Amino acid sequence: MSKPATKAVVVVGAQWGDEGKGKVVDYLASSFDYIARYAGGHNAGHTVIFDGHRFVLQLIPSGILRPGKKAVIGAGTVVDPAALVAELENLKKSGIEARGRLFLSNRAHLIFPYHREMDKAAEAARGAAAIGTTSRGIGPAYEDKMARRGIRVCDLFDADRFAEKLERVIAEKDAISRATFGHPLDTAGLLNQYLELAAHIRGFAADTSSLLNRALDKGEPVLFEGAQGTMLDIDHGTYPFVTSSNATSGGVATGLGVAPTRLTGVVGVTKAYTTRVGAGPFPTEMPDLDAAEVRTRGQEFGAVTGRPRRCGWLDLAELRFAKTVNGIDSFVVTKLDVFDSQPEIKTCIGYRWKGQPITEMPADVETLSQVEPEYRTLPGWKKPTPGIRDVKELPQAARDYLNFISDTLETEIGMISTGPERDATIVPSGTKLASWL
Ligand code: GDP
Ligand code: IMO
Ligand code: MG
Repeated sequence: MSKPATKAVVVVGAQWGDEGKGKVVDYLASSFDYIARYAGGHNAGHTVIFDGHRFVLQLIPSGILRPGKKAVIGAGTVVDPAALVAELENLKKSGIEARGRLFLSNRAHLIFPYHREMDKAAEAARGAAAIGTTSRGIGPAYEDKMARRGIRVCDLFDADRFAEKLERVIAEKDAISRATFGHPLDTAGLLNQYLELAAHIRGFAADTSSLLNRALDKGEPVLFEGAQGTMLDIDHGTYPFVTSSNATSGGVATGLGVAPTRLTGVVGVTKAYTTRVGAGPFPTEMPDLDAAEVRTRGQEFGAVTGRPRRCGWLDLAELRFAKTVNGIDSFVVTKLDVFDSQPEIKTCIGYRWKGQPITEMPADVETLSQVEPEYRTLPGWKKPTPGIRDVKELPQAARDYLNFISDTLETEIGMISTGPERDATIVPSGTKLASWL
């Protein structure tokens, strides 16, 4: 008989990001040895709250907060070394030492200050059609990667080779900047700055695909921490209002060099409603006043940029799509408590376009902006839910809401979150998710 597969579970955002992945990963991390990020960069902001401390992780996996756990930043990410060093220093101030348990892929691409400049300039040039990026240089860094002129972590550690590569890229970037934006690139001191940063991060660089595959061979479980969300995925999201990487579960295989056949489960995280930061279509967006109320109750302001998040009703048509694209086995519903005082709750069960029901997610944002959501209205529960540990103790209307979601999506709800803290969490027994703990 063959050995049972080692636990290898992916946590993905099922919506437009900020679903509460940080909290969910932090909760699950206690049952895993490694926690690995496969895509994105410091555009992510994952909030974890426990014992009165609040952490916002950007690039380093949230699992680093659990003593003894190992964290991996994969080849599919883009790394701003200055941001990484700052994040490491912040952790240190809180008494968390990452050395010896953080591993950075030597194949990950680097973000340079000119990527940030390009990000901002490109957004300004788009005018009213701006994406609303986090202006961290994420898109331009992935552009360089795909154009095969990127510079990677492994390039940092041989000063002469690095200088040669950087010079070549700078010459090209400078010409582009002059031609496109009418000003030269400010690259003074860049080489020395990066060589200094290289000294700080050298000790973390590793072949992380080998590391994770060896761990799985030895039976050490791995949790994969998604960033962004399904609808921000470069291929499957609301293009062009997306990020520049594969946020969906497929990104694990390419972004970490861990084969799809090794994955044993996929968890999709959704709020009890929907939010989106930045521009782009959002079929179930609430009218301003309702959105303002949910935003205040849910504290819906960006963890990275502080921008107010757009708020809307839960969109089961969108979640059905997320289930398919990611292969979600178990949903986590976060922020249920935000609806504790909501008299009635609307839920989108499907879209109509030009009066006709549509079953597929429109590819183009023009059509998606025109769909009319079909709503089902359920009664609210008007009772506080924080502090409840057993699903049977939730108010009946809250259980009905959760059952409605689970029945419509034909998928279990393996975890319910009723507050930002680690212990404001309910894990119903008998679920797949419970078996991964
Ligand atoms: P992520 O990017 O998916 O990790 O999510 P963010 O951290 O950007 O945003 C989620 C926000 O909701 C954070 O401020 C969390 O502390 C908070 N949060 C997570 N779960 C809950 C919950 O169940 N209830 C409430 N009220 N807040 C939550
Ligand atoms: P987490 O991991 C929410 C959005 C930006 C913008 C678009 C492109 O915390 O869920 P980018 O800077 O990536 O080029 O911006 O994607 N975006 C996010 N929105 N949560 C995130 O990450 C996001 N990362 C990027 O707002 O609309
Ligand atoms: Mg976030």
